[in-house]
Amino acid sequence: MAYHLTSLSNILSPLSLLLTASFSLFTSANPTCTYLEIPIHATASNEVFPIPTDLDYTSPAAISALIQTLIGDAVTTFPLKPTSFDGIVAARYCDPEVVVANRSDVIQLYMSGVTENNLYWFGLGYPNGIDGDMYSTVDFASKQGYPTLAIDRIGVGNSTHPDPITEQQVNLEEAVSHELVMALKAGTAVPGKVFNRVIFVGHSYGSVLGNAQATNHPDDIAAFVLTGYGVSTIPVAADLPQTLPLPAQTYDPGRFGSLQLGYLVTSSKPGRRGYLWGRPGSYDEAVFEKDFDDEDVVGLGELASIAGGLKEAPDSTAPVFIVTGDADDVFCLLATCGDGASSPQAQACSLFPKSEKCDYFIPQGTGHMVSLHYSAQESFARYHAFLAENGF
Ligand SMILES: *[C@@H]1O[C@H](CO)[C@@H](O)[C@H](O)[C@H]1NC(C)=O
Ligand SMILES: *[C@@H]1O[C@H](CO)[C@@H](O)[C@H](O)[C@H]1NC(C)=O
Repeated sequence: MAYHLTSLSNILSPLSLLLTASFSLFTSANPTCTYLEIPIHATASNEVFPIPTDLDYTSPAAISALIQTLIGDAVTTFPLKPTSFDGIVAARYCDPEVVVANRSDVIQLYMSGVTENNLYWFGLGYPNGIDGDMYSTVDFASKQGYPTLAIDRIGVGNSTHPDPITEQQVNLEEAVSHELVMALKAGTAVPGKVFNRVIFVGHSYGSVLGNAQATNHPDDIAAFVLTGYGVSTIPVAADLPQTLPLPAQTYDPGRFGSLQLGYLVTSSKPGRRGYLWGRPGSYDEAVFEKDFDDEDVVGLGELASIAGGLKEAPDSTAPVFIVTGDADDVFCLLATCGDGASSPQAQACSLFPKSEKCDYFIPQGTGHMVSLHYSAQESFARYHAFLAENGF
């Protein structure tokens, strides 16, 4: 942004040059961020999935078919087994560059989707992503005075990697998020800071975790922003095989050689493009390339347990804002969402029957990677406007 102002200033008078220069200094500021490793202990009951002992992990088709069977329909249930997590959640906490007094005890908690980690929220780089702050949710929130916490979900980035099948599932990850929110409110997650209201901002699987937290712990979260999200798991399963899932350890031994076989990546570049990126021209090719090159992992247990999180949250009253592109292939069959009341985005409000307010925004042409498309700045502006209108 500062660059635009500076080049504009070349054709303006010396006085406005002076004004622009000082304004540039202000707008080029960054939030002040700290890297944290937050110890978490959490317990939950996870699903026991029937994974064949002879599953052919060299076959993307076999892996996809298994996931499709396990996601099944929401009616399928599996036995439950108590499980626990003891480890660290890695995170970047950022103090905003602009001070807004009545936002100092509010925090936006960022929960990424699968194969993404905390860097998704910085526009794929730290402290600045591609094109400076163009795709940085953190940067936008910082300019509006919100403290932010972008975490690595358990099993990605620098967080503890649990068993990717028996442990890394919606139920235990929701319990981890619950403990994290308790720690934010108690002042133990970010040393010296107490946050009274937590705004949950999710992407994709992260949004499903928000849905699960609204169901299981309806008092935790003051407002939800759910991006790359919809009402049904049917498209999630139907359109997945094109990504050619493979074990991360065989796909990239250098980065992921130590991970168990149940940790997967999307191995097909055209498949990842088809599944996650909307219409041609809706994103910068350099952003797509960096996202493919830097992709993180997804646990087989996460994919298998999605249906357990995507369901009605009967007691949550928190306001909800949904941002999903009209060309999202993960939550809309054949990447065709429509944009009215019948769209999966609008229908997803039915999962929050007691919400004070549920609304949605559908960026045109945009695929699943809401914060990484050209429409990102508009999506950020829309959700922040919703938060402001609803008392945050
Ligand atoms: C993990 O930690 C290393 C070393 O501090 C850091 O360079 C890297 O950016 C971190 N990974 C992520 C995904 O943030
Ligand atoms: C926060 O303070 C600003 C003025 O500084 C005011 O306009 C806004 O209504 C306040 N918001 C809330 C939720 O109190």
